[in-house]
Amino acid sequence: MVSPDRLNAETIIAKKRDGGELSEKEIRYFIENFTQGRIPDYQASAWCMAIFQRGMSQQETIALTRAMAESGETIDLSDTLDYVVDKHSSGGVGDKTTLVVLPLVAAMGVPVAKMSGRGLAYTGGTLDKLESIRGFNVHLSPEQFKTRAAEYGIVLAGQTHELAPADGMLYALRDVTGTVSSKPLIASSIMSKKIAAGADGIVLDVKTGSGAFMRTIDDAVDLARLMVQIGEGTGKDVTAIISDMNQPLGHAVGNALEVREAVETMQGSGPADFVEHCVMIAGQMVRLAGKSYELDLSDIDTELRTRLTNGDALAMFRRMVEAQGGDLRQLDDLNLLPQAPVRRELKAPHAGYIREVDARGVGLATLDLGAGRRKKGERIDHAVGVIVHQKVGDHVDAGDPLFTIHARKEEHASQVAIDLATCIEWADRPGLPLFYDVISTR
Ligand code: URA
Repeated sequence: MVSPDRLNAETIIAKKRDGGELSEKEIRYFIENFTQGRIPDYQASAWCMAIFQRGMSQQETIALTRAMAESGETIDLSDTLDYVVDKHSSGGVGDKTTLVVLPLVAAMGVPVAKMSGRGLAYTGGTLDKLESIRGFNVHLSPEQFKTRAAEYGIVLAGQTHELAPADGMLYALRDVTGTVSSKPLIASSIMSKKIAAGADGIVLDVKTGSGAFMRTIDDAVDLARLMVQIGEGTGKDVTAIISDMNQPLGHAVGNALEVREAVETMQGSGPADFVEHCVMIAGQMVRLAGKSYELDLSDIDTELRTRLTNGDALAMFRRMVEAQGGDLRQLDDLNLLPQAPVRRELKAPHAGYIREVDARGVGLATLDLGAGRRKKGERIDHAVGVIVHQKVGDHVDAGDPLFTIHARKEEHASQVAIDLATCIEWADRPGLPLFYDVISTR
C-alpha cells in the first residue's frame, strides 16, 4: 500500500474537485483506505460528488474499476466450469430481469454466476427483491459462490466483505448522496463486480429514458462503450444492449410484487414487453457462451421461449432459491410472499391513449412507499409497491385501472396517489406522436 504520509484523502478530493486527473496510485490509495475504514464515509461521499461533477478519463475509470475489483478477493471459476456468463443492468424501474434470465440461461445449459446489487436511488435492486423470499441468503463467501456455481449451474450473491467490498460500500453512499448517475461511477461499480465474480462472458443491459440513469441514447451508448472497453481490457467477452426505460418494465414495481411477476412470467403469464426483454438478454448471454451464432438470436428463439414457460426456467429458479435457503412454499403459493395491508386503485379519469408512464415518477412513488432507501442501511418494506396496469400506446376507457398502490398505511397510499396521477401523459391517438410542433415565419 502507498504510504499515507505522501497521499491523503483531502488532497485527492480537492484535486478531483478542481478538475484534475487522478493517478492510478491516488485512486488505489483512496479505494484501499476507504475499504479498510481509514477514510470515513463523509470523505468518500465528497469524492463521489467531485467525480460526479468533474467526470473521469477512461484511464481513471479503468484504474478505479481495477482498484474496486481488487478491494477483495476475485473468484476464478475456470478450474471448475468451462464458460460462465453473467449479466448486469445499469438500473431501471420494474427491472426484475435477472430473476427470470438467470434461471432461463441455466436451463439452456449455460452456467450462470452473478453478483448483484441492492436498490439504487429510485431503481430496485435484485438482492432486495430476492430477500422478499423468506430465508434467501445473498451473503455467500467466495468459496460458497464457487461451489454453488459448480454444483447447481446457477448462483446469485451480493457483495460481501470479501467480494468487491469497495463497490458495496460506495454503492450504499451513492444511493443516498445524489451521486448515482455518473458514467465513471456506474461503469466502475458494475464492471468491478463482474470482474470479481469471475464470469467469462457478460451481457450489459444499459437502460436509457426517463427511468434510467442515462436519460439520452447518446449517454447510454457512451456508458456501454466505456464498459465494453473495460471488459476488453480485462479479457472478458462483453455484449451491451441499449434498452428502453421510458416506462416501467412489465407491470410490477416493488420487491415482492416483482418476484411474483417474475414467477408468473416463468409460469407463462408474463407481460409481453418483459417476456421480449428477457428473451433478448438471455439469448445474448447464451450466444456469448457459443450456443447461438445469430446476432438476432433467430436460431435459438424458439428454444428460449419454450424453456421460459415450460417449467424449465422455473425449476432452475427453485433450485437456486432452495440452494440459498429460501422458502419454496412462497413460490408454490405466491400469496405467501409479503403482502401490503392497504390496496388502492387509481382509475382513469377519462378515455384516451397513454402517451407516457413516467418510469422515474413511478420509481420515486415506490421509494416513498418504503420499497427503497432514503438513508444508508435503512430497512426496506418488501411488500409495498405499485402495479402499473397500462403501457404506452394502450387505449383506456374512463374508469379503467391505471395503478394499484400496495401501501403499509392509508396515508402513504393517499400521498402516492397524488404523485402517480402526474405520471400519466395522455394522447388522442396510439403510440408516440411523429411531430411535436411547427415553428414558422408564416
Ligand atoms: N448497477 C450497479 O451495480 N451500479 C451502478 O452504479 C448502477 C447500476
